[in-house]
Amino acid sequence: MKAVVLVGGFGTRLRPLTLTAPKQMLPVVDRPMLEHVVGGLARYGVDEVVLSLGYKEDVFREAYPAGECAGVALRYAVEPEPLDTAGAVRFAAEAAAIDETFIVVNGDVFTDLDVAEVWHRHFEVGAEATIALTPVEDPSRYGVVPTDAEGRVSGFVEKPPRGEAPTNWINAGTYVLEPTVLQRIEPGRRVSIERETFPSVVADGGLWAVQSDAYWVDAGTPDTYLQVQLDLIDGVRGPALDGIATESHIDPTARVDRSVVMADASIASGAIVSGSIVCRGALIGEGAVLTDSVVGPRAVIGDGARVTDMTMVGDDQRVEAHSTLAGARVPESS
Ligand code: GDD
Ligand code: MG
Repeated sequence: MKAVVLVGGFGTRLRPLTLTAPKQMLPVVDRPMLEHVVGGLARYGVDEVVLSLGYKEDVFREAYPAGECAGVALRYAVEPEPLDTAGAVRFAAEAAAIDETFIVVNGDVFTDLDVAEVWHRHFEVGAEATIALTPVEDPSRYGVVPTDAEGRVSGFVEKPPRGEAPTNWINAGTYVLEPTVLQRIEPGRRVSIERETFPSVVADGGLWAVQSDAYWVDAGTPDTYLQVQLDLIDGVRGPALDGIATESHIDPTARVDRSVVMADASIASGAIVSGSIVCRGALIGEGAVLTDSVVGPRAVIGDGARVTDMTMVGDDQRVEAHSTLAGARVPESS
């Protein structure tokens, strides 16, 4: 089975971290996000992944020089300019000469949903495209997908205004597509699979869906980027991962609660870190308090600083000693 993994977005909601690395190469506990996603696909028998990308493609190539990720063969399809989700799928499918049923996934989704079930249902109903759905509380951030009792999709509304969604079942970002879908996508321009292609398949009655209430989180926002990591160390999805890298240094008088501390990071004496992510090589100063926040690679939190409420500190940035930041972005302009 071949899968196109979409990883070409700018990751604007995760700035400043995505100013230096594409979203899917940001670390998630012990590996880049992409390895969690590709590893998940491998469990269902995907043996070739076409990475559909553009933004910071060199970061992917440097990380996987042998063209292999999580045991799966990688191929790169580099867009000359961002073509949006459908344009990207067409471009990648052509680059990899895909001419059979294939899988597409959004590269920022952490999920345990059963890809094989979506694949089988696709053939059972003879769909042109089949998408996985997940229930969420606020569907306004997502693609909203009403279906009939058998699962035939009757509409596709991308990011409807709050309170106007026809259902709470949303596009989970995992699709099984027939190659005929590619013909619906005009080449050489930006085309959104959510706003143009799926509505056109719906109009012909060819879009089907499979509902799943398996674990599902889109890690593309600060809150959810933090959440997927805490879920992994809490063991929400299976055996808990250890959030504290062996090559990190935590002073015996510091307190670290329910947090991720990556390799070469240091937590100085008397510091308190809770519900937070401390990336590679970062330093949390003496007596500093870090709560529900993310500190990027090699960033320094000065002594006695208080950094709280989903603050995001970018790579190599410095937060002054004894300063207070709540819900901040450092640097501010990002
Ligand atoms: N190659 C390429 N080119 N990839 C792109 C482009 C592009 O122009 N634009 C976005 N992507 C990639 C992103 O990197 C990401 O992995 C994926 O496509 C989806 O983009 P997001 O920016 O994360 O979209 P979203 O989260 O707002 O909404 C999408 O995902 C939701 C589920 O997580 C939509 O598909 C929604 O319908 C869906 O509910
Ligand atoms: Mg997303």
